[in-house]
Amino acid sequence: MKRRDWIKLNGFGMASFFLSIHGKKSLLINKNYPEISSIDFGKDFLWGAACASYQVEGAWNIDGKGPSIWDSFTHKKGKIHQGDNGNTATDFYHRYAEDIALLKSMNFKVFRFSISWSRIFPSGTGEINQKGVEFYHKVIDECIKNNIEPWITLYHWDLPQALEDKGGWTNREILDWFKEYVSFCTLEYGAKVKNWMVMNEPAAFVGLGYMLGYHAPGKKGPYKFLKATHHACLAMADGGRMIRKNITDANIGTTFSCSHIDPYRDGPTNAYKDLGAVKRMDALLNRLYIEPSLGLGYPIDGLPALKRIHRYFEPGDEERLKFKFDFIGLQNYFRVVAKKSIFPPFLWSKQISAEKRGVPMNEMNFEVYPEGIYSVIKQFSKYNIDNIIITENGVCYKDFIQNGKIHDHERIAFFKAYLAQVLKAKKEGAPVSGYFVWSLTDNFEWSEGYEPRFGLIHVDFNTQKRTIKDSGLWFKKFLLHK
Ligand code: BGC
Repeated sequence: MKRRDWIKLNGFGMASFFLSIHGKKSLLINKNYPEISSIDFGKDFLWGAACASYQVEGAWNIDGKGPSIWDSFTHKKGKIHQGDNGNTATDFYHRYAEDIALLKSMNFKVFRFSISWSRIFPSGTGEINQKGVEFYHKVIDECIKNNIEPWITLYHWDLPQALEDKGGWTNREILDWFKEYVSFCTLEYGAKVKNWMVMNEPAAFVGLGYMLGYHAPGKKGPYKFLKATHHACLAMADGGRMIRKNITDANIGTTFSCSHIDPYRDGPTNAYKDLGAVKRMDALLNRLYIEPSLGLGYPIDGLPALKRIHRYFEPGDEERLKFKFDFIGLQNYFRVVAKKSIFPPFLWSKQISAEKRGVPMNEMNFEVYPEGIYSVIKQFSKYNIDNIIITENGVCYKDFIQNGKIHDHERIAFFKAYLAQVLKAKKEGAPVSGYFVWSLTDNFEWSEGYEPRFGLIHVDFNTQKRTIKDSGLWFKKFLLHK
């Protein structure tokens, strides 16, 4: 039995619901954030909700799809919480029409989703799976029919296993494999889809997948990390160029995870002790993947250990890393508090967890810190980027169905607080032009399985029944006069 069923059966649901409303996690509810209206953001501001192929599609081995690294990784014992996997996920493969209708009913105008590379190219390159190609046509057409703009992410972490067998992101040949994939998708869907994101959070998939081994493909070590980083940065720029070449009026972006970072030791006499740790962490988490595309190279001034990345350079790479994206997607989930440390040697800096600091957290123990989104928008605005879109922001809390409803007041408080900060940055001149909620529905949360629920729509993973949470109904009202 899964833990959530056990909680329901034992009547613990109400107890935890009560605790989450009145415990330390609910601090946002008690704060008086200014009432905001979607009109304050301007009439052209884009409002959307997002998801990603592996987290929702399911249908992992049907209609000709090849395995991805997430299929292989989740099928290994002990990798995912409670042994969950994305074999079925939210069954988006068969229920996309229902989900798009629900998105529309909440008055959103943008749907961000990703393409599963191995659904199109089962072996990563070469032979095409026509049924996979048709599936994304159907999703795109359904969006258009409903007056929803499809925004496509080309790579949200589910690399074809066949390519990982050849080294995946650590093999430089990935630059050719990726170009073939991007070229195909843009030529195939480019007449209907104008908004494209090349990658989702390279810092996350490279860091967690090739350095720490927590995510697929489960590889570890600083050299794999540096190699995969360089290839991901080159592929990001190549991807941008390929979209530009194939779709003349495309709006091209890519997305980055980013966090506001503070020193652990605080105050005028102490903070300086951790400022070096903050600088190194900032180079790793915020600067590493964006600066090469801006022509600034890797941020070795912030994190000297990165200089070893140059051993993977080939002639022309400096130029090849650059690409002028039309927009940058920022994705913010938590604040980082950093302290100087002798471990790990590469970084000489560690994070002090939200739990240890006793601050408000979500169910994944990420700190809930609304001011952080303001701060990262301001930080990235300094790069002189023309257009910033918040391509992901959201929160997981425990949800409970009571008489067919989900009263997720904490999630509503979260959105009010974060949106107020986005608006503040916008009013101060930051070029923010959109906000996409993570996530449209509850889904498969990577190594955490199905327990953390980020959706505006609750999914019963036994029956696949969808129920719009109160937070979704809040957005419906909030976006009504858009
Ligand atoms: C990822 C999503 C993930 C979310 C919540 C983001 O980093 O892009 O796929 O579900 O964080 O953890």
